[in-house]
Amino acid sequence: MVVSDITKVQAIEGFMRLCADGWEQGWHERNGGNLTYRMTKDDVEACRPFFYNPRPWVKMEVKAENLAGEYFITTGSGKYFRNVALHPHHNIGIVEINEEGDSWRIVWGLINGAQPTSEFPTHFMNHSVRKAATDGANRVIYHCHATNIIAMTYVVPLTNKAFTKALWQSATECPVVFPEGVGVVPWMVPGGHDIALATSELMKTFQAAVWAQHGLFVSGPDYDTAFGLAHTIEKSADVYCKVMATGHPVLQTITDDNLKAIAKEFGVTLNQDMFD
Ligand code: 13P
Ligand code: ZN
Repeated sequence: MVVSDITKVQAIEGFMRLCADGWEQGWHERNGGNLTYRMTKDDVEACRPFFYNPRPWVKMEVKAENLAGEYFITTGSGKYFRNVALHPHHNIGIVEINEEGDSWRIVWGLINGAQPTSEFPTHFMNHSVRKAATDGANRVIYHCHATNIIAMTYVVPLTNKAFTKALWQSATECPVVFPEGVGVVPWMVPGGHDIALATSELMKTFQAAVWAQHGLFVSGPDYDTAFGLAHTIEKSADVYCKVMATGHPVLQTITDDNLKAIAKEFGVTLNQDMFD
């Protein structure tokens, strides 16, 4: 479909909607959080009439051959989610990846010298891993500063098992939505090569990774699924924190047998590493 305004292209429209939804949840103070979407060939063709003369190639510290030649929509570094809908071409952009899979260049948006998110290396490596793990189905990587999941990283041991169990037991839908559990990255300096590799290693197994004292990374085939996963995890974390805040002993919870019963009924396989 030919449109007169790039913001009417479905992929851009959905991207902007997720930014607005995340802002409304309170997960994107200042420039907190970032979003990337790996475009389909049709998305690229729908946006191509709006492309500018590309800006120069920028080499990354990370490389992924399975992302060579791909195009991504990305939020800008230092840009505020709350401003995306107001001025999309300032706050988001489209980058093309080179044939070696180690450099990007801006072909649309991010005007006035703006750059892709500082977490682009982590997004990029996560895309690479999730694309391979899902046979190309995964297209979205979303990072948010979800309040309750961050709060949990102060009181729950920073292991995949402890976090997964706490989240599975705090909302009955959780084992169905993320039966493999969640991964946990210990506190690390954000924005670089090391945290990108640590996160993408976990993303081989998990759809979501918690960053200690920082936030959450989720993946998904489309905007709704990725946002829904973040929303489900954060809702569960909210329940967990509220229960802890009562100061009362926990009298009953979702037991291992309950979890197994949910899995059987909903036809999902729970990650056995999360059980004793
Ligand atoms: P950016 O503004 O570069 O996307 O950084 C925000 C953030 O959340 C860093 O982890
Ligand atoms: Zn962040």
